[in-house]
Amino acid sequence: MYRSSSRFVRRGAALLLTMTLASSATAQTAAEIDAALKAAHAKFQGLQEGKNADYIPALAKVDPNIYGVALVTVDGKVYTTGDITSEVSIQSISKVFTMAQVMEEQGPEAIEKNMGVDATGQVFNSIVAVEQYRGSEMNPMVNPGAITATSMVSGASRDEIWNKILAFESDCAGRQLSVNQEVFKSEAETNQRNQAISMLMYAYGHIKDNPLQACDIYTEQCAISVNAKDLATMAATLANGGKNPVTLKQVIKTANVPKILAVMATAGLYDDSGKWLFATGMPAKSGVGGGILAVSPGKFGIAVISPPLDAAGNSVKAQKTIAEISNTLGGNPLAPKPAAVATASAKGGKKK
Ligand code: DON
Repeated sequence: MYRSSSRFVRRGAALLLTMTLASSATAQTAAEIDAALKAAHAKFQGLQEGKNADYIPALAKVDPNIYGVALVTVDGKVYTTGDITSEVSIQSISKVFTMAQVMEEQGPEAIEKNMGVDATGQVFNSIVAVEQYRGSEMNPMVNPGAITATSMVSGASRDEIWNKILAFESDCAGRQLSVNQEVFKSEAETNQRNQAISMLMYAYGHIKDNPLQACDIYTEQCAISVNAKDLATMAATLANGGKNPVTLKQVIKTANVPKILAVMATAGLYDDSGKWLFATGMPAKSGVGGGILAVSPGKFGIAVISPPLDAAGNSVKAQKTIAEISNTLGGNPLAPKPAAVATASAKGGKKK
């Protein structure tokens, strides 16, 4: 009796130990994480592929050599390397947080119902994708869904809506963010296609009123200026169940996080989302400013800024750097390891 109960206690202790190990942020030491960041940065620094976005004129002028890397663990430790003070405009990465904000106010169903949570298989500003299902069966990561999400943020005036959006994104980043006015102006002067998309989403009843105001606020949200650490902290807020691990503020309801991550996994890198998931397993989001953030749930958020993009509109260096670091650190959430506990109990179990 005593022997068997002490065996039970030992097994319980082993299980607890396994659970504790599994729940710590990463299996690596600070020095190992730091080394992983530095090694990836050194490996890809010289890479010359890709080209700055130029359909927004101000983006063509951004220094293509900016290259910043940051990782923030769910226990609030911050690791950085490279260009960590330079900033780029957040662009489409903001779509994640506006979607999250709408979920806070109206629940995830509102997003699923109003624009859908499915991949379009089309470019991010496709009008064909809108026409195919009259503005349904898409998602908030592509422009029609994103502008519609912006239109769903409640507020009595443009100012109130905008201030809420900026405050929410700032809470996720853990500092007060601001807008790059040159980028905002440049896109506002050249975004006729997004205005057309907004009018179509209004025509099909997804945007309820003021479609051009929604487009304008969306354009401003895309011009928010961020460094790699801001983006990594935003990603870490998602990795940590909606609680910013640096400021400890619960910004996003924990229950909404799996929905947000599912949309990111489906469409975060547009028509290349499948390739990205295959390479890393991580929900992520890119922006044409050159940023990408990615989430290793329960472990860390990671982000890289580097303006030159590939044909799908995703930063070349950011994709490679994040994949390299995450794979070194075991960040892929779709790569489970056989449990030690399962092996132990199988040994103790009856033979068949
Ligand atoms: O609406 C646009 O075209 C830009 N403000 C954002 C697009 C974007 O970032 C797509 N990302 N890869």
